[in-house]
Amino acid sequence: MPDFERLLPKPLRRPAKPGEGRNGNGNGKSPVVNGALEGASGAAGWLDERLGATPFLTAMLYRKVPKGTNWFYTLGSATMFAFVIQAITGVFLAMYYKPSAAEAYESIQYLTNDVFLGEFVRGMHRWGATVMMILIFVHMGRTFFFGAYKYPRELQWVIGVVLIVLTMLMGLTGYLLPFDQRSFWATVVGVNINGTGPIVGPYLSDFLRAGPEFGATTLSRFYAIHMMLVPGLMIALIGAHLYLVGKLGTTAPPWLKAEMPKRPRARPVDAEVNGRGNGKGGGGAPAPTDSAEEGS
Ligand code: HEM
Repeated sequence: MPDFERLLPKPLRRPAKPGEGRNGNGNGKSPVVNGALEGASGAAGWLDERLGATPFLTAMLYRKVPKGTNWFYTLGSATMFAFVIQAITGVFLAMYYKPSAAEAYESIQYLTNDVFLGEFVRGMHRWGATVMMILIFVHMGRTFFFGAYKYPRELQWVIGVVLIVLTMLMGLTGYLLPFDQRSFWATVVGVNINGTGPIVGPYLSDFLRAGPEFGATTLSRFYAIHMMLVPGLMIALIGAHLYLVGKLGTTAPPWLKAEMPKRPRARPVDAEVNGRGNGKGGGGAPAPTDSAEEGS
C-alpha cells in the first residue's frame, strides 16, 4: 500500500487486490514511521467521523474519467493553481502596499528593494498573472475544440466566459497599482478604450475612473476592485464551475466513438414469453442489438 493511502481513513482506501496485504505490518518501515502513519490515519479518521466527508471524497477521488483523458484535461486545474498562487502572493503584497496616489509608488519601491523576498513575491504575482491568462485561454480552447461547451455543459461554458472576463479585469485593475508612468498611462488608454463601447461604455469608464477624470479615488477604486470585488466573484464562480465538473464529469475526446453497453441477447425462453418465435407474431420488444451508436 503506498504511504499516502495509509493516511486515508479505512473507508476511503482502495479495496485490496487478492494477495495484497492491507494490515500495514511488515512493510519494512521502522516502528516510529509506522506509528506516525497510524497516528495520522487516526486523526484523519477522527475528522472524517465528524465531517462525514467520506462519500464526497470517495466520489471525487475514485470517480471514473472518460477513456482517452489526456494532459489537455489538466489545463483547468493548472488555471486554478495559477489563481491560488495569485491569491497567496497578493495577500503578501497587500501587507506592504498603500493604495493612495501619494504613497503607492513609494510603497512598491520599498517592497521591491527593501523587504525580504519582496521582489521575488512581486515577480511571482506579475508573471503569475501572465501565466494565468495564457492558461485560461488554452483551457478555453481545449474545451471548445473538444466540444465540451455542448449540452449539458452550456452553463459551465457561460460561467467560464464570465471567469475569463473577470481575469482580464484583474489584469486591468492590477496594472495601475504600481502607479508608475507606464502603469498610469496604460490604464488611461485601457479605460478610454472601455469608454468607446456601445451604450454602457461611457458609464463603465466613468465608474472605473470614479468620475469624469482620473483622480485620487481612481487608485483606491481599482485597488478595491482588484483586491475584493473580483476575487470574491471569481472564488464563487470557480466553486460553481468545479461543482459542475464534479456533477457532469468531463467530456470524452471527440475522436473516440461512444460505446453502447453490451446487453445480453434475448434468450429463447424470453422470446416465447413475448410471443415471438412461435410463428404467431406478438407485441414483444425487439431483440436488442450490439450495434454501437456514434456520439454527437
Ligand atoms: C479561473 C478560471 C477557470 C478554472 C479554475 C477552471 C477550472 C476547470 C477545471 C478544473 C475543469 C475540469 C478539468 C478540465 O477539463 O480541465 C474545467 C472544465 C471545464 N471548463 Fe473550466 N476553468 C476556468 C475557466 C474556464 C473558461 C474561461 C471556460 C470557457 C469559456 C471554461 C470552460 C470549461 C468547460 C466547458 C469545462 C468542461 C470540460 C469537459 O467537460 O471536458 N473554463 N474547468
